[in-house]
Amino acid sequence: MIEKINQLMAEIEGLQAKNAEDIEALRIKYLSKKGEISSLMADFRNVAAEQKREMGQRLNALKDAATAKINALKEQYQSEDHVDESIDLTRPAYPEEVGTRHPLSLVRQQIVDIFARLGFSIAEGPEVEDDWHVYGALNFADDHPARDMQDTFFIQQNPIVVLRSHTSSVQVRVMGEQKPPIRVVCPGRVYRNEAISARAHCFFHQVEGLYIDKNVSFADLKQVLLQFAKEMFGPDTQIRLRPSYFPFTEPSAEMDVSCTLCKGKGCAMCKGAGWLEILGCGMVDPAVLEASGIDSKTYTGYAFGMGVERIANLKYRVKDLRLFSENDQRFLDEFEAAK
Ligand code: PHE
Repeated sequence: MIEKINQLMAEIEGLQAKNAEDIEALRIKYLSKKGEISSLMADFRNVAAEQKREMGQRLNALKDAATAKINALKEQYQSEDHVDESIDLTRPAYPEEVGTRHPLSLVRQQIVDIFARLGFSIAEGPEVEDDWHVYGALNFADDHPARDMQDTFFIQQNPIVVLRSHTSSVQVRVMGEQKPPIRVVCPGRVYRNEAISARAHCFFHQVEGLYIDKNVSFADLKQVLLQFAKEMFGPDTQIRLRPSYFPFTEPSAEMDVSCTLCKGKGCAMCKGAGWLEILGCGMVDPAVLEASGIDSKTYTGYAFGMGVERIANLKYRVKDLRLFSENDQRFLDEFEAAK
C-alpha cells in the first residue's frame, strides 16, 4: 500500500492539463467516489492495526495533495485567456436586422412631442367605452347621427358599450378625474364603421388636445395651433380657420394649413385650393364642462383633434390608407431613415 501511495503522490505532483475537460477527467480519476484514492481508502480496513495510524496520515496527506493540485490547475486555467479556435474572427459579420418604427408611430410621436414642449401632458384611455364617455358627456343629442350604427361599432346595447369613435372620450375621463388647469393631449386608435378603401378605414389614429383654465380664449387656441403647424410642416406654414360644427365645442372651426407641396399656389395635392384641411377645434361648450363637474363660469377651455394618418399622408404622400395597416415590409422599410 505504501508503494501505491508514493506512486500516486509522485503522479499527482506532475499533473498537467490543457483545458477544462482535462482537469475534470483528472478530478474523476483521483478524487471521485470510484477514483484511485477512494479505492485506497477502501483497502485501508485490511491494514494491520499497528500500521493504521501511519497509513491513515499518509492517505489523508495524499488526498489533500490531490485536491490542492487540481484546484491549482483550475485556477491557473481560469486566469489565462482562452480563445476558442473553432470561431473564425476574420469572417465578415452578418448584418444586424434592426426593426424600423411604423410611420404612424413616428408621426404620432412627433405630434405629441410638439405639444409636450408647449406644456401638454399625455393622457390615454380605453378603446372600449360606454356611451357617456364617447357621446353623452360631450353634448351629443340622443338622436345625433354619429351615434348611429353607420359610424359607431356597438359591442353591446343596454347598457351601451362601443368602440370609441374619437379620443375625446379620454378628455372626458381626464375632466372627471382632474381639476383645472388641465392641459393634455390624447393619442390613440379610434374606430368607425366605414367601408375600407384607399381613403377610409374602419380604424385610424387621432391626437386630440384639451386645455382648461381661467381665461382661456380662442386666441390662445389659434396661437398654439399656428405653433404646431409651423413645427410640423415648416416655419413658412400658414393656417386658416373656417367655421364648423361639433356638438362639444362652440364656436367650432376646422383648420387648414397652406399646402405643403405648392406652398399655397394650388396643385394636384391640394386640388388647386392651396390649403389642406388637417384638424377640427373649438372652445369647449359650457355644457360639456358642467357635465364633468367643472364650473363653466370660472373656467373656459379649448379642444382640438386631428387624424394621425391624415398628417402622415401629407408628410409622406402615402396615397392609399390601407398601406398603413397591411404590414408590407417593402412599404415599412421606406421609413427606415425617417425621423
Ligand atoms: N372629436 C372630433 C373628431 O373626432 C375632433 C375634435 C376634437 C373637434 C376637439 C373639435 C374639438 O372628429
